[in-house]
Amino acid sequence: MSESMKGLKRSHRCAEVLNAEIGSVVTVMGWVQRSRNKGGIIFTDLRDRTGILQIAFEEAECGSEVFAKAATLRSEDCIAVVGTLKKREGAPNKQLATGELEVRADQLRILSESETPPFPIEENSKTREELRLKYRFLDLRRPDIQRNIMTRSKIATETRAFLAENGFLEIETPTLIKSTPEGARDYLVPSRVHPGKMYALPQSPQLLKQLLMCSGYDRYFQLARCYRDEDLRADRQPEFTQIDMELSFVDVDDVIDVNERLMQRLFKKVLNIDVQVPFRRMTWQEAMDNYGSDKPDLRFGMKLHDVTDIVKDCGFSVFTNAIQAGGSVRGINAEGQGAMPRKKIDALIELTRTYGAKGLAYLAINADGTYKSSFAKFMQPEELDALVKAMGGKPGDLLFFAADKNKVVWDVLGNLRLEIARQLDLLKKDQFEFLWVTEFPLLEWSEEENRFKAMHHPFTMPMEEDWDKIDSDPGTVRAKAYDIVLNGTEIGGGSVRIHQSDIQSKMFEVLGLSQEVAEQRFGFLLDAFKYGVPPHAGLAYGLDRVVMLMVGADTIRDVIAFPKVKDASDMMMNAPDTVEQKQLDELAIRIDEAEVEAIEAAQK
Ligand code: AMO
Ligand code: AMP
Repeated sequence: MSESMKGLKRSHRCAEVLNAEIGSVVTVMGWVQRSRNKGGIIFTDLRDRTGILQIAFEEAECGSEVFAKAATLRSEDCIAVVGTLKKREGAPNKQLATGELEVRADQLRILSESETPPFPIEENSKTREELRLKYRFLDLRRPDIQRNIMTRSKIATETRAFLAENGFLEIETPTLIKSTPEGARDYLVPSRVHPGKMYALPQSPQLLKQLLMCSGYDRYFQLARCYRDEDLRADRQPEFTQIDMELSFVDVDDVIDVNERLMQRLFKKVLNIDVQVPFRRMTWQEAMDNYGSDKPDLRFGMKLHDVTDIVKDCGFSVFTNAIQAGGSVRGINAEGQGAMPRKKIDALIELTRTYGAKGLAYLAINADGTYKSSFAKFMQPEELDALVKAMGGKPGDLLFFAADKNKVVWDVLGNLRLEIARQLDLLKKDQFEFLWVTEFPLLEWSEEENRFKAMHHPFTMPMEEDWDKIDSDPGTVRAKAYDIVLNGTEIGGGSVRIHQSDIQSKMFEVLGLSQEVAEQRFGFLLDAFKYGVPPHAGLAYGLDRVVMLMVGADTIRDVIAFPKVKDASDMMMNAPDTVEQKQLDELAIRIDEAEVEAIEAAQK
């Protein structure tokens, strides 16, 4: 049975009755959280996105017909209630904002009945995520997800307001564009009108926003949907949203300033937290040397120490061989962890193997100052003492060392540092440590492709003082690129752009793009650069990541209304899916079934 709303108008959302007068008549609508029949009285918890409100149906007040109907209410039925707002007669419910109130009902309409849901609609659900995502429309009714989605909306609204106040124009850019591979793989969209040709979905509006600067729009922003066909993780989705911006006639400090104020505004308005500006800044080199990561989590210390010089002539060949091969030896001091059981140490060593460690050496400093170590037997006592001293080791500390190429050592110790912090519960979700990482390398050597690739993207401006090394030692050229990091997550990144066609052409050359290929892929940008380009710079945040950190969620899936799962599929819509033959024919596409099987087999 479904009744209509005819003649009824909602007067308040559930929690909004806090603003209504006691004794007034209210009309509320929502879903039945649960209903308890206590004989002559039925208590129904009514839920909407603002919270829960208790409704009392008492036969003597509402009459036997309404009472009988109320007796049939089941969880998730959608109902409307008219009644009088009263102070609760029983004990208040301290868990609820409306816990001192109730609505004494005199009308009830069952707008729509619910079948028994496949899982309970409750906070901190224990239901496995696959089931929740299959029924995401129900999962989205859960109060914790609803709060996330509402906070997300508030963040978006505040962002728009702040940027508009600061002279930014909101401009949309197309999502059917040309494939210009940046970092990840493109999602392609076949064209019917041009059979055999493809659009690509943008990985970001990068080139388009630069063109908007060429066109004189000065300050642009967009909450832009981006698509990247890459392996998913807790903080990555195939489609995600950027707070994307670009500014003309600015340098690094201008971009940093406006973005610090944006963060300050969001944290104040949304979380009522005062964020101190300016944020800390660290060069990429400092970040790697001290934290083994280009997105260091500054909520705790445990910095890396380079002990290469101390151990370069020691008797432990694992160390000396790595150094002779051009690598380094570095360590971290897990202070006070000297009594860590062997089993736990072994588990940490095992974990570092996933980051490429060939081994991990450790040394525990006993309370009496003696050592318990995996490598002490290979070193002289005074060599060990010097090493412990360099690490700032005290009795009760536990030291870990990695010896390898710098890249491996950083990755191993950077991740070990995080894992130890996790185990020691040092990562507090209500502590917010912002950081700018600056002066990234311009280029990154790709072992697979045997060539340099742009670390950020090919339009990033090199630092003037390094540019003369672009031919002799390209790997050492730094870029005017910056990332904004919050609690160890890269929430945004950007750079000053190249606006000189000669530097841009040189960049393409260094990246191994011939004049022809560059022309074919980026011709429109190079053309635009012939007609008076303003110096410009910009930045893009991953909005999903910002929201995730602000609400304290563990994954960005919890702040996206309809997220995808690890294999990039949508469990609810069952996408991607096959399409009708007619649709394929129109696009001149033929599916090679043998190839499909081969690819599927390879993916297993
Ligand atoms: P970048 O590639 O660093 O820069 O992306 C900017 C920010 O977007 C977020 N992000 C993601 N979020 C969720 N899922 C993903 N798969 C994903 N990939 C990236 C991150 C990242 O910091 N056009 C440049 C920006 C610029 O130079 O102005 C760009 O896209 O938080
Ligand atoms: P072994 O020489 O195999 O007895 O190893 C001695 C110690 O060195 C063990 O604790 C290993 O885990 C450690 N070890 C091996 N390779 C490395 C490395 N690349 N970095 C740090 N420690 C290592």
